[in-house]
Formats: sequence, C-alpha cells, structure tokens
Amino acid sequence: MTMILITGANRGIGLALAQNASKRGWSVIGTARDPGKADKLKNIPGVRVERLDADSDDSCKALANSLAGSPIDILINNAGISPDKSKNLESFDPEAYMACLRTNSVGPLLVTRALLPNIEASGRKLVVQISSIMGSLTNAADQNWKGNLAYHSSKSALNMANILIANSLKEKGIACVAIHPGWVQTDMGGPNAHLTPDASAASILDTVEKLSVKDAGAYLNYDGKPLPW
Ligand SMILES: NC(=O)c1ccc[n+]([C@@H]2O[C@H](COP(=O)([O-])OP(=O)(O)OC[C@H]3O[C@@H](n4cnc5c(N)ncnc54)[C@H](OP(=O)(O)O)[C@@H]3O)[C@@H](O)[C@H]2O)c1
Repeated sequence: MTMILITGANRGIGLALAQNASKRGWSVIGTARDPGKADKLKNIPGVRVERLDADSDDSCKALANSLAGSPIDILINNAGISPDKSKNLESFDPEAYMACLRTNSVGPLLVTRALLPNIEASGRKLVVQISSIMGSLTNAADQNWKGNLAYHSSKSALNMANILIANSLKEKGIACVAIHPGWVQTDMGGPNAHLTPDASAASILDTVEKLSVKDAGAYLNYDGKPLPW
C-alpha cells in the first residue's frame, strides 16, 4: 500500500490531499503544527497525525524519530505561507521576507533531509514540492510581473533547490519534482480562485501517480503539463 506523508495537512490543499489519498486507499500521515486543532485531518479514516513545524530542524528531527523505520513512498512538502508584508520594495520588510523564505524554501529542505532514510527505504521514492507558478522567472520577465516580492522569490528559490537536490538524489532512485497546485480556494488562494481544494488535490495525485525517477527535477502544473522556469 502506498504510504504518503503530507506537511501542512490540517487545512487547505494539504487537507484535501490527505482526504484524496485516503480515498485512493493509501496510508496517510498528515502533519500539523498543532495537532490539537487538526480535527478535520483527524477525521480522515486511518490517518496518522504527526506534529511538525517545518521551519524548525528540531521539529523535523523529532518527526523523523517518530517515523524511524517506516518507509515513505511519497513525501509532499505542502506547508507554505504568503505574507502580506514585503509585497514590493516600498513595503519591503526583511523579517517578513526571511520568514517567507524560511517556510517556503528552507522548510522543504529540512523535511526532505530528515525523512530521507524513510524515502530511501520505500518502493516509490518520490518527493513533491508544492511550489507555485509565481516562482517562474520566465513568466515574471516575459509578463512584466511586479508581484509579491517575498512569496514569488521564495518559490523561485524552492524551484532551484529542487533541481539541485533532484540531480543528486536521482542517483539513489529518488525523484524530486515541483508542482504548481493551480489557483485554489483556500485561506491563501481566497474565494475567487479557479479550483476547489478537492479538484486541485485529485489532479495533483493523478499526476503524482504517473511520476518516476525519469521526471526528477521537473516543474509541473497540477495536471502534469511542464511549466516555464
Ligand atoms: N492556494 C493557492 O492558490 C496556491 C497557489 C499556488 C501555490 N500554493 C501553495 O500550496 C501550498 C498550500 O497552500 P494553501 O493554499 O493550502 O494554504 P493555506 O490554506 O494557508 O494552508 C497552509 C498550510 O501550511 C501550514 N504551514 C504554514 N507554515 C507552516 C510551518 N512552518 N510548518 C508546518 N506547517 C505550516 C499551515 O498550518 P497552520 O494551520 O498551522 O497555519 C496550513 O496547514 C503552499 O505551499 C502554497 O504556497 C497555493
């Protein structure tokens, strides 16, 4: 049975990924910063809820200790933030910018490193970074984006980090890919977004099911189409 671990699974896209994975009959580990407030996650049949603050290396190591010896087929680094501060140069706030980089770019690396033994021990060996089209340098340049300075930059950094770790981890048979989930109706995406969390999650998991080590380093839309860097 496929074992999937999803970070930030207490709400939004992470919760929908956990619900969809469970419906597929997969074993699901969902993480939350505060499991005491993760009732929707806990209500998913058979789910295992673990505590994780992806910003903290200690928290990542504690998770790894708790999961020692358990193979993880698919790790989805979904946890992310989009701060209101530091959207442009005028409102640039170094602390808010660094906090965004910490969660969106550093966090996925800390989690992946901590859980590497679990991933290596699995049959699928797949790491998915939930990135964003907002991280596309090509689109930013071609379409004259002014954007959210902190958020866009954090996802570009995640994309680069993903290529670099993908190039080295593919030698161990591990595929690391970055996936844009679409514009999704969550606390982050807002009510006007195009996709429900359920539609985004179902499409992401359909794409994930087709991935193998030959896709290592890819940057994909939720429906599996390649995205411009
Ligand atoms: N929604 C969109 O349109 C959209 C578009 C492109 C990309 N994305 C990406 O998709 C992912 C999920 O977004 P979403 O829309 O579902 O956002 P959301 O509704 O705001 O949920 C974010 C999730 O991440 C968790 N989280 C934040 N910081 C964390 C940390 N340091 N450690 C552990 N968990 C943390 C949150 O936990 P708490 O409940 O504890 O805060 C929550 O579970 C993010 O990476 C986001 O950048 C979203």
